[in-house]
Amino acid sequence: METIMEKITEMPRDSEIYEKAAAIIRAGGLVAFPTETVYGLGADGMNEKAAEKIYRAKGRPADNPLILHIENTKQLDELVMEVPDKAKQLMEAFWPGPLTMIFDKSRQVPYSTTGGLNTVAVRMPSHPAARRLIKISGRPIAAPSANTSGRPSPTRAEHVAEDMEGRIDMILDGGQVGIGLESTIVDMTVEPPMLLRPGYITREMLEEIVGRIQADPHLLEEGPDKDRHPKAPGMKYRHYAPRAELTLVEGELSRVVNRINELAAEKEAEGLSVGIIATEETKDSYAGKNVKVLGTRKDEETVARHLFGVLREFDGEDVDCIFSEAFPEEKLGQAIMNRLAKAAGHKRIRV
Ligand code: TXA
Ligand code: MG
Repeated sequence: METIMEKITEMPRDSEIYEKAAAIIRAGGLVAFPTETVYGLGADGMNEKAAEKIYRAKGRPADNPLILHIENTKQLDELVMEVPDKAKQLMEAFWPGPLTMIFDKSRQVPYSTTGGLNTVAVRMPSHPAARRLIKISGRPIAAPSANTSGRPSPTRAEHVAEDMEGRIDMILDGGQVGIGLESTIVDMTVEPPMLLRPGYITREMLEEIVGRIQADPHLLEEGPDKDRHPKAPGMKYRHYAPRAELTLVEGELSRVVNRINELAAEKEAEGLSVGIIATEETKDSYAGKNVKVLGTRKDEETVARHLFGVLREFDGEDVDCIFSEAFPEEKLGQAIMNRLAKAAGHKRIRV
């Protein structure tokens, strides 16, 4: 299959491109598109065969459900049994935007979309390209992150092409995405609502609107527990995994830097090639090393935006092990550390 790559801007002349993309969706094909979080791999969410194509293209386990993307709140009624009051309040506050909510699914939503579950994940993205594609296609669009299963989520169209070239019909290239981490997921079918995946919308932001939010107990654990599965099936897989072995080093910053330098020297003495994930504040402390910078500690949004891209860059190099600085687990730091810890397979060193 030849994958068409089209650059999109917000110009009216793009309408031909969107028409073509929407026609592919309606015909049961696959189109990757930018959202404000990461690139999604879209298909008609109500078409069983189309949803199955997504699993095949990603190599994704069939029990890992997809998120349905909608463009207006009317579309929600067709997908869910009921919309709890707290969900209405969260929609009001955060839609369109990087928040996914879990509802009891309606009969129309095929089980291939929900991985066999009786619940369905729905999100209304704010990215204009995503909104335009959903609107023109007239369908709820099922879209996981547009990466091969197990690789870091794509934050640029080039990342999508790396993983999906030849496997999907079209890629809409909207450049680098804004947030860079996947949406926050909250299960609205339980009381109090449960945070299943931290993201740009933090637990505190949710609690400000609807009161207490419980966290999936698995999110707080240090390592994967065989007997306790996280409620979002996707969270149990080793995700965002770089090819090299990644270790997180946490503690007071100057001690972290010292420890990473020691660990790097040990590995190099063994003849291994080492990569370091650092920040503007620390990059000069790793003289002569292969250092990649996520951004400044003063602005965690830049750190979030660059995280997956940096992991992918190391994948393209012959690195055997990577040491990464940790971040305070507050606000957006919760989501950053959640993704870093998963990428590290929970290998964490405290200094
Ligand atoms: O920001 C995002 O959410 C991106 C963009 C493309 O919208 N999408 C995304 O999709 O991250 P994906 O498939 O990579 O992650 C979806 C997560 C998985 O962990 C999945 O298990 C969980 O959502 N999920 C989906 N439906 C669920 C359900 N009914 N119950 C519990 N978890 C669910
Ligand atoms: Mg994903």
